Amino acid sequence: MMASKLLFFCLLLLVLGLSQAQKEECHRYASSCDECIQSGSECAWCPLSYIRCLNMKELRREACSKGYYYNPQSSTHVVRNDSSTDPVDGKTLFIQPQEVSLHLRPGVSQSFPLTISMPTDQPVTDVTMDSSNVPAGVNITFSSVTKGNPLHIQVNVEAAQCPSMSDSSNQNLTGPWSILIAPRGFSLSVNLNITLLCQCDCTGNREENHPACSGQGTLECGRCKCYAPYIGKHCQKNSDDLWSGDDSACRSGPNAPVCSSNGVCEEGFCVCAKREDPSEKYSGMYCECNNFNCPHHNDRKCGGNGKCECGQCICDSKWVGEDCSCSVETASCKATNGMLCNGKGSCQCGICRCPPPYSGPTCEECPSCHNRCDQHAACVECRAFGTGAKANICDRDCGYLTVAMADTGDDIPGENEVLCKMRTYNSCFLYTLSRLPSRGQSVVSRVKKC
Ligand SMILES: *[C@@H]1O[C@H](CO)[C@@H](O)[C@H](O)[C@H]1NC(C)=O
Ligand SMILES: *[C@@H]1O[C@H](CO)[C@@H](O)[C@H](O)[C@H]1NC(C)=O
Ligand SMILES: *[C@@H]1O[C@H](CO)[C@@H](O)[C@H](O)[C@H]1NC(C)=O
Ligand SMILES: *[C@@H]1O[C@H](CO)[C@@H](O)[C@H](O)[C@H]1NC(C)=O
Repeated sequence: MMASKLLFFCLLLLVLGLSQAQKEECHRYASSCDECIQSGSECAWCPLSYIRCLNMKELRREACSKGYYYNPQSSTHVVRNDSSTDPVDGKTLFIQPQEVSLHLRPGVSQSFPLTISMPTDQPVTDVTMDSSNVPAGVNITFSSVTKGNPLHIQVNVEAAQCPSMSDSSNQNLTGPWSILIAPRGFSLSVNLNITLLCQCDCTGNREENHPACSGQGTLECGRCKCYAPYIGKHCQKNSDDLWSGDDSACRSGPNAPVCSSNGVCEEGFCVCAKREDPSEKYSGMYCECNNFNCPHHNDRKCGGNGKCECGQCICDSKWVGEDCSCSVETASCKATNGMLCNGKGSCQCGICRCPPPYSGPTCEECPSCHNRCDQHAACVECRAFGTGAKANICDRDCGYLTVAMADTGDDIPGENEVLCKMRTYNSCFLYTLSRLPSRGQSVVSRVKKC
């Protein structure tokens, strides 16, 4: 029982794995559009992106702009679908449609309905469909949708794969093929015209004077076909200029150095110099960019919080600044009372800027704030002992203060407390005050005699 469950699970994984592999596998480094689309039914050619052959999901992610990708789609076109001239008094067999044209991307099936009206004097039985002239690799199947008269049949057409291009003996490997399908025993048939989509027919997408070709060429299959005398990947160079040995095409401006001094000019194109460290690269049409000369922080390029593109840091999220050294996080600025920088300073790049007399990582330290001892002494005394200057006005003036008597053995002060000592002519006591400013809240003080 356990074993069979396990086997089932393994099979499931295998099936899932296979279907996954079929979906994802595109020939990422295909050199042509044809090669790309033949590598899988979901593969599309995106000539202007870095990886040019992607499945549809990746294509969306890569934002391969719409006009620049090629992904031929299967289609079914009903060429002829005449109605019967004599529909009521059916003496002869009648089929609709009569002619269908199909463009098939291998691996993607197409289907269309067929309606067969039998002569009324014929017994209504199941009809077997025959197909003739079906080329190898094309699979035509029929499924009955409704029985009776007329009969509705679903025709499904699918091609397994594109023929291998090395097999050039036959020119007719992708059609168009003319295939006849007919109910067995009848002479009437339906004509299917099938073409396999194994090549990028980009001519329909030709765009003259395309901006991607500097307006000096036609974009075809995502590639520029340049008008004379222009040449280059983007038709950006005038070949007439090259004959004269002019390297102006390699300068970003009339007085700019050739290839920004980071490369050499070859036939009007900058070939950027290589760096010893292969992760460091010059780029740009004039080698004007690099990915290593960016602001440093703490000895790290872009503070280790971003990437360097063309001399500028592109900071990871949550980091800002020229060198990505500034965090937009404020957690490190939170004081123990929950306020940013104790409500005293400002949080800049994750660090509190504290105005004097406050200091410390969250502006909670105030060494010069000890005079608070004097400020509260009279109230501490009257609250704790009923004596001192405020003995008679203690309730009125000292309501803000709560005192707790501490045993003489107790350790005072605690964390975030300031130790105060008060000595008058008739008493001596030690007490603690919260180091935190009271801001009108009650102050709790622990007192012991000294
Ligand atoms: C052909 O035409 C009929 C109407 O005459 C329509 O019901 C049928 O769907 C059409 N068939 C196809 C394959 O378009
Ligand atoms: C044709 O398609 C049917 C149903 O989709 C399938 O069972 C059969 O194996 C296919 N035959 C070939 C030769 O691919
Ligand atoms: C391909 O085959 C069809 C018949 O199926 C024929 O009409 C056509 O001329 C052939 N094309 C070539 C280029 O051989
Ligand atoms: C078959 O389809 C192809 C391409 O769609 C077309 O060029 C050809 O004329 C069609 N053949 C017939 C017999 O309709």
